[in-house]
Amino acid sequence: MHKTVQDIINMKKEKKKISVITSYDYTLASLCDRAGIDVMLVGDSAGMVMLGYENTIPVTMDQMCMFTEAVSRARKNSLLVADLPFMSYQASIEDAINNSGRLIKSGADAVKLEGGLIMAETISAIVDVGIPVMGHIGLQPQTTMLSEGYKVQGKTKDSAMKLIEDAKGLEEAGVFSIVLEMVSNEVGQIISESVNIPTIGIGSGVNCDGQVLVVQDLLGMYDKIKPKFAKRYMNLSEDIVKSLEEYRTDVESGSFPTKENSFSMNEEELKKLRE
Ligand code: KIV
Ligand code: NA
Repeated sequence: MHKTVQDIINMKKEKKKISVITSYDYTLASLCDRAGIDVMLVGDSAGMVMLGYENTIPVTMDQMCMFTEAVSRARKNSLLVADLPFMSYQASIEDAINNSGRLIKSGADAVKLEGGLIMAETISAIVDVGIPVMGHIGLQPQTTMLSEGYKVQGKTKDSAMKLIEDAKGLEEAGVFSIVLEMVSNEVGQIISESVNIPTIGIGSGVNCDGQVLVVQDLLGMYDKIKPKFAKRYMNLSEDIVKSLEEYRTDVESGSFPTKENSFSMNEEELKKLRE
């Protein structure tokens, strides 16, 4: 049996840190699951790292469902959370419930949406139909058109207080966990200490109850943006390009394929063929 929402909530009570990683496809998700990652998140960051969009705005429900289905086929142990993409939950509560249901039917155990207190009613409505919700405050990539862009949140007293209120409001609305994206270390710590549900930080300091990274950032295979908060454990893009260049030169020189990579006809059949 895979991890449940309750398992993740309990980890905070047991003071165990929660590891979260984004996943979008079967192959990498299988490896994340095998590595014992607690939560796989089908983030709408898929729009950027998998589809090449400039930001997450163009991502559709159909795309999110396809990624979620692929990851769910790979998942054995992790909890599976999927993002509600831009405009799949903002216009009405009915949209929010229907689209959350689609992600669940695609294999997710829970959904994630961006927004503080303003989303409280929507979140309660989704939870009321039996779908667990993860909150997401701080930097909210779906609304960066409105704000100053990709910047650290909660550096001033007022913005810090707003974030703390949002976190408490989300807990009250029924989220089982909250992502804190790019908030100051101090706000990350205060929020983590003032709610009973786990906080999952990305660029929000070591005092969050868990951490999340985009898997391509961790593996060093997405070179367009290199966020300061992401730790690169590998430089996979260099290794991949090196291997592909070797393959190309092997093809050009005729040193691939060799006999080992090829199939031969039966000798007798070959004789008959040549007659
Ligand atoms: O889409 C995403 O990858 C996310 C995480 C960065 C939290 O929302
Ligand atoms: Na996201």
